[in-house]
Amino acid sequence: MEEKLRRLDALREESRLGGGEHRIEAQHAKGKLSARERLDLLLDEDSFVELDRFVTHRGTGFGLEDQKILGDGVVTGYGAIHGRLVYVLSQDFTVFGGSLSEAHAEKIVKIQDLALKNGAPVVGLNDSGGARIQEGVTSLGGYADIFLRNTLTSGVVPQISLILGPCAGGAVYSPAITDFVYMVRGTSYMFVTGPNVVKTVTHEDVDMEGLGGADVHATTSGVAHFAHDSEPECLEAVRTIFRYIPQNNTEAPPRGPGQDPPHRQEESLLEIVPDNPNRPYDMHRVIEAVVDDGEFYEVHSGFAQNILVGFAHLGGHSVGVVANQPSVLAGVLDIDSATKGARFVRFCDAFNIPLVVFEDVPGFLPGVGQEHGGIIRHGAKLLYAFAEATVPKVTVITRKAYGGAYDVMNSKHIRGDLNLAWPSAEIAVMGPKGAVEILFRREIAEADDPEAVIEQRMEEYRKRFAHPYIAASRGYLDDVIDPRETRPRLVSALNMLADKRDQNPVRKHGNIPL
Ligand code: HXC
Repeated sequence: MEEKLRRLDALREESRLGGGEHRIEAQHAKGKLSARERLDLLLDEDSFVELDRFVTHRGTGFGLEDQKILGDGVVTGYGAIHGRLVYVLSQDFTVFGGSLSEAHAEKIVKIQDLALKNGAPVVGLNDSGGARIQEGVTSLGGYADIFLRNTLTSGVVPQISLILGPCAGGAVYSPAITDFVYMVRGTSYMFVTGPNVVKTVTHEDVDMEGLGGADVHATTSGVAHFAHDSEPECLEAVRTIFRYIPQNNTEAPPRGPGQDPPHRQEESLLEIVPDNPNRPYDMHRVIEAVVDDGEFYEVHSGFAQNILVGFAHLGGHSVGVVANQPSVLAGVLDIDSATKGARFVRFCDAFNIPLVVFEDVPGFLPGVGQEHGGIIRHGAKLLYAFAEATVPKVTVITRKAYGGAYDVMNSKHIRGDLNLAWPSAEIAVMGPKGAVEILFRREIAEADDPEAVIEQRMEEYRKRFAHPYIAASRGYLDDVIDPRETRPRLVSALNMLADKRDQNPVRKHGNIPL
């Protein structure tokens, strides 16, 4: 037995080294960690259990027969984050650039199947040159097997992707189907085709960072939800999201520490909304004043900043916050913000996370670019997402709720459970200026002093519409509250709705406008 154990130890040690020490050093020199070092930081100490460490590729040709490396470029298994089970896969760039062979794909598929059967999240640490070129179609088939499981798992268990190296080709489509994508500045890239192919096809000169770096995807394309400065920081951020999300679609999300008094009244909320309705303010201040301990785990913070989405705890309840941001484009809804909001709302709804909406929205963004870009189709996504959501849904209107955006932002009419407004709320078909210019066009055109007429008519309009009491008189608002009461009222609403039961008609699936 002793000799057999020695052999086992030797094989284990061999598998730990992946493509070899010199390649691990090359990873370090690029500011990257090895596949196993990453798992050490991600998971609770000593919780990782490896599976399939002896798997090797079955490729032939191009000298592959002489390059069988135990594990075949991906470390897979399960472990714990904050004591809760997670399945993990960590691609090893030191083995054929982390490229995906048939065997490598089978290891990932095994993890995905286990996660689905056992109802636990999957975290994928991606660092891969895409399909293993020498394996041809079996590698492409392996990708499709993974994509299928990503899709079938979607909405059943949370799926989280970290991009930790140059991920190309098939290596980006699996993360794209998952719920959240994390990237690291300076070392991680996502593109379907790299800079060289781009140069050949479109003659555009662009480097890896400019084509598919973390900031590009976290601010411009919206492909990534998070961009971090280092791998350790990124891995720690992934651990933190687990404080808000459940294991699967049948479980409740974890409760927060609940130390912050639920009845805390926040004086600062009186000062945040400016008297002048055209002046911006930062909605972060509202969110942070209201949620437990001021902690807001913002998602997609660099993309479509006119809407804010993210997780928080409120009275210990995990919630998904969706908020218009008046300090960016006046909080208007446009193509990107609607898409961003819709995807987040659907994640929360799939995973039993109540939605809390802070609303200050002047409407949808007008313009040729938006219309031609499909604001109708994209705006409809947010409307659809809120309308179909059956989790507890609570709205606080802090100021403007104009036009279609009033309906979209979780209004009572689309099953908002509890809709509150501050006395500063203005609820109408459109803002005063736009309305007056339409309703009194002729009077303004014929006036000696058009500006004076506009001003007078706007004043009348404001008196009639720039308040929440018409909506409240109809029951479209459940109450108008003192801003200082916002936290206690929201906590009470979440307690009241904790056992909410609601469902949608039986159907194969809806047809959200994509
Ligand atoms: C086999 C690969 C590989 C691949 C990299 N390697 N990519 N081996 N198949 N796809 C190997 C290299 O030969 C090298 O081996 C080692 O990994 C490290 O690669 P380098 O090029 O030296 O590293 P770097 O300079 O950091 O560049 C990384 C890279 C580049 C940007 C990922 O390697 C690259 O462009 N690779 C090809 C990307 C690609 O086009 N993949 C196929 C996409 S098509 P040695 O032995 O020298 O260390 C696809 C289809 C699926 O994925 C579509 C599904 C929808």
